[in-house]
Amino acid sequence: MSALLTMSAVTGGYGDADILQQVSMHVDPREIVVIVGPNGAGKSTAMKAVFGLLTVRGGSIVFDGDDITRWSPDRIVQRGISYVPQVDNIFREMSIHENLEMGAFLKKGDLSAAYDRVYTLFPDLKERRKTLAGTLSGGQRQMVAMGRALMLDPKLLLLDEPTAGLSPKYMEQIFQICRNVRDTGVAILLVEQHAKQALAFADRGYVLASGQNRHEGTGADLLADREVAEMFLGG
Ligand SMILES: Nc1ncnc2c1ncn2[C@@H]1O[C@H](COP(=O)(O)OP(=O)(O)OP(=O)(O)O)[C@@H](O)[C@H]1O
Ligand SMILES: [Mg+2]
Repeated sequence: MSALLTMSAVTGGYGDADILQQVSMHVDPREIVVIVGPNGAGKSTAMKAVFGLLTVRGGSIVFDGDDITRWSPDRIVQRGISYVPQVDNIFREMSIHENLEMGAFLKKGDLSAAYDRVYTLFPDLKERRKTLAGTLSGGQRQMVAMGRALMLDPKLLLLDEPTAGLSPKYMEQIFQICRNVRDTGVAILLVEQHAKQALAFADRGYVLASGQNRHEGTGADLLADREVAEMFLGG
């Protein structure tokens, strides 16, 4: 199977300093891949590189047959990648429904199929579609952010710490939604602080540290790896 997304030896950063040093990863179609690693490892930066938010100085990013290295985020969204950032990922002063509408700003014509698809994945949001997003719980806000990102029918969804600050119950719910999203044909690349739970849930994972690849494998292999456990999973 050819990969949907391939990052090959990507080096880059925000100013002069390179944060990512030759980072390589891939995501296959319909795969859930997780990036774990310590704070400041470059996990968010790796996602930003895919989404065109980084100065990439070396290497390449290929998505669905196109070399998208140095494309603008606009063009990348239109090509089929949606991104949910780690913070500030919803419009608090708008209703749930308006947030979804904002997600579809690039889409012309009838949005009813897109709303149907998203509200089917998130029945809770449908019930509360007129509620202001800023008044929702953290878990519900995360669902709004994911729903917004799914309005454009991406092939790949990038999620930066979708379960940050959530209770274990909500975390499991978000993971289950990720599986449901994957079952509609969307691949997911996510960053997670809850490394053990995320590796148990994902198909494959990457451990990043200091802007470099450290380990990769199936979630189960990484969980069983003694060095990974000792260094990155708290023993
Ligand atoms: N906008 C920015 N400008 C300059 N440096 C940045 C910027 N964002 C992040 N960095 C630096 O890049 C490095 C990697 O940060 P990044 O946010 O990718 O880490 P992370 O693995 O996502 O960490 P966390 O688990 O805390 O979210 C850090 O040293 C950080 O200080
Ligand atoms: Mg981060």
